[in-house]
Amino acid sequence: MMDEQPTEISQGAVYCQRDLASVLLTAEQIAARVAELGRQITRDYGGQPVVVLGVLNGVVVFLADLLRHLDLPCEVDFVTLASYGSSTVSSGEITLVREPRLPLEGKRVLVVEDIVDTGRTLAWLVNWLRERAAEVRVCCLLDKASRREVPVRLDYVGFEIPDAFVVGYGLDFAQAYRNLPYVAVLKPEVYQR
Ligand code: IMP
Repeated sequence: MMDEQPTEISQGAVYCQRDLASVLLTAEQIAARVAELGRQITRDYGGQPVVVLGVLNGVVVFLADLLRHLDLPCEVDFVTLASYGSSTVSSGEITLVREPRLPLEGKRVLVVEDIVDTGRTLAWLVNWLRERAAEVRVCCLLDKASRREVPVRLDYVGFEIPDAFVVGYGLDFAQAYRNLPYVAVLKPEVYQR
């Protein structure tokens, strides 16, 4: 017999609903919070130009939405980081496989990240940027604060979430589920397979 899933899960996820345990953040909750973050960032920068630097690939959906709520002169660029570890936990060595293309000297940089877990990836990137840019601030959509191993300052946080592996709204497991319109908890049996 088919598993019955709440409507929230089946929306946008008919093809993979059996993999999802629950919806943690609905599309409506995310949209409202992203608009708030945009207003707060706009206020704080007070019309000063900013380089919005997205961390690929998980950030694409969040960044596309956030950008449209920034009433500021913006340049947009991306970095890609590689970190070695298991499919659900990043570990030791981090390298920059795509550097920013824009010059950062003398610029204010706003790093935009999908999720901060141990903090290793972001702490590494912030250190790298501090040697190049005039100012570095960080905005992340999701903060798994209880998992932090390396302290890192988060200037703007969408939601603090519990320690669960989440997918959707850009976040993946093994490159899947990025297209879900909400953030869902992945059933552990999917990543423990
Ligand atoms: P950190 O270096 O441990 O903070 O890991 C951050 C990176 O791990 C994020 O940019 C994600 O790529 C990935 N990550 C951590 N937790 C999750 C999750 O629950 N879902 C999807 N990706 C995650």
